[in-house]
Amino acid sequence: MANLAVGLMLMLMLQVFEPALSQPYPNYHADFVDIDQAKSEPKWWQTGAFYQIYPRSFKDSNNDGVGDLNGIADRLPYLKELGITATWLSPIFTSPMADFGYDIANFTEIAPVFGSMADFEQLLSVAKQLNIKIILDFVPNHSSDECEWFKRSAAGDPEYKDFYVWHPGKLVNGVRQPPSNWVSVFRGSAWQWHEGRQEYYFHQFVKKQPDLNYRNPKVREAMKNVLRFWLAKGVAGFRIDAVPHVFEIAPDAAGQYRDEPRNNGNNDPDDYGYLQHIYTVDQPETINLVYEWRAVLDEFSNGPGDDRILLAETYSPIDIVMQYYGNATAEGAQLPFNFLLISEISNSSNAEAYAASILKWLTHMPQGRTANWVLGNHDQSRVGSRLGTDRMDMLNMLTTTLPGASVTYQGEELGMTDVWISWKDTVDPSACNTNPSIYEHYSRDPERTPFQWSGATDAGFSNASKTWLPIGPSYKIVNVEQERQQPLSHFNIYKQLMQLRKTTPTLQLGETQVKALTRNVLGVKRFRQHDFTYVTVLNLFDDTETVNLKDSFSDLTTDLEVVLVTDKSTRKVGDFIKAESLQLLPKESLILRSTSTYYTYYANGEHRQLPVEGVYLLLAQVALYLSYRRVLTLSTYS
Ligand code: GLC
Repeated sequence: MANLAVGLMLMLMLQVFEPALSQPYPNYHADFVDIDQAKSEPKWWQTGAFYQIYPRSFKDSNNDGVGDLNGIADRLPYLKELGITATWLSPIFTSPMADFGYDIANFTEIAPVFGSMADFEQLLSVAKQLNIKIILDFVPNHSSDECEWFKRSAAGDPEYKDFYVWHPGKLVNGVRQPPSNWVSVFRGSAWQWHEGRQEYYFHQFVKKQPDLNYRNPKVREAMKNVLRFWLAKGVAGFRIDAVPHVFEIAPDAAGQYRDEPRNNGNNDPDDYGYLQHIYTVDQPETINLVYEWRAVLDEFSNGPGDDRILLAETYSPIDIVMQYYGNATAEGAQLPFNFLLISEISNSSNAEAYAASILKWLTHMPQGRTANWVLGNHDQSRVGSRLGTDRMDMLNMLTTTLPGASVTYQGEELGMTDVWISWKDTVDPSACNTNPSIYEHYSRDPERTPFQWSGATDAGFSNASKTWLPIGPSYKIVNVEQERQQPLSHFNIYKQLMQLRKTTPTLQLGETQVKALTRNVLGVKRFRQHDFTYVTVLNLFDDTETVNLKDSFSDLTTDLEVVLVTDKSTRKVGDFIKAESLQLLPKESLILRSTSTYYTYYANGEHRQLPVEGVYLLLAQVALYLSYRRVLTLSTYS
């Protein structure tokens, strides 16, 4: 009885002194990151499962071979089943489709091939019922040359005259030449001569995508009104397309544009890589423009559940990417996309490379901001082709157990891979602007083929005699219907992962440690006061590996329980492993949980954890010792 009382008293003291003991953790260890969100409830997007839909290829409801809005609405329950928080749609606006919707003719109109405004409103309402947020693609850098604004600009209409970047060019030996050597992302000069206006216009992408002139306040306002139009309809935010391209340098005092310097090593003057893009990309004005857009979104946000958000597409150097989050006085994009797992990780990357890449984001990220992890999109070779289908599950495990939001490109929850497309079937302008011998290097068609719903005709995507891109040959095996039936399919593991994160506060709010446990084994530890610790381990290669988790991560319990497995494992959920000696089969990945919750404290400049079972043990010993002393004292006096 006395022991119990002493124990209870100590527990009470622990509670009282706890705030003093568990000070905020310092953020100076390279492998240790403090995230502010650990201190409060996360907002809807902070631990969100984002899913990109490429509408042309998701679901075709009217059998014309192209996906559409009614198709998406029809399949939103599938996203719900997966556990998706929000979906961002590649452009659905009126367009001649020179770049498959990234060439917009009317920013506030739905392209007939995708449906009508009524269809879009219906999609929003189905999404609302299912509690899935809809995010649109905002393409600020350019419009289509078939946009009314461009037509009027070309005709010299005073209101629109300076909506685009026009220049008469240079006269060299009496011959007219483009104003500068600037090259388009999709090959060739970025300047196009316009017969009507007798001037060149600038286009960073194909010539049917003239760049808007952001040095004109009217353009800035017109594009803000585009945001307002869709926000008023109830969209949850925007993915901002090609944001680093929005501004180019202003002409000099003589009205001329400077040439960009050469990139040594690239000898193809039509290739984008031929030049260093110091005047056309990442101009300082761009960041402030994103802050202005964020302010527009905030006009429409009604409380935390209704936060409207920006996801920014930028492959810029890390220091620039981080500025998109905002600064001390202005908020920016809530989630500038983290493409490091795409741009830095290859098939041969070892655990050290993974850890370095993950920590690069986490250690550069300003305090209080939210991380995100992107594995693929419609411009990149699919992750299954890039890093291997046998790594799909472990990569999904990684991105869902790291802090912050995860972003999945449609089909990658099934393990869809790139589909080879012949030159004849190639439609992507980025490839069509090249030639049959090099097009594969430029084409984005392989990752854009129709979604594989079933083993039926056209993979259940459509009943058209011809789909806009061919169906991938794997569709009989890699499809939703098949994978639903296999307990350890990519689809079912993905689903379990979404569920696990949604129901696990440690994964949503906990602190993070990322380490290469060996050259080939990556480990992520997530931990939190009064909660279970989670450890994700990935054996990236084909050797059997034995790791001592206690060597890398302090304060683990002796045993850890298996919470999630893949088909590379012989273990089952509910098995226990020894933290000191864990053998991993080739490409095996596991999510493990401590057998006890933790008491977290801060001592000698270090942050430590004590398993609660350990706290009780300690208390029992103290109580025993005290009662022993009492017995001694009593016997001395008796
Ligand atoms: C972005 C899009 C890409 C498009 C380009 C031009 O990078 O993701 O698909 O071609 O911008 O809009």
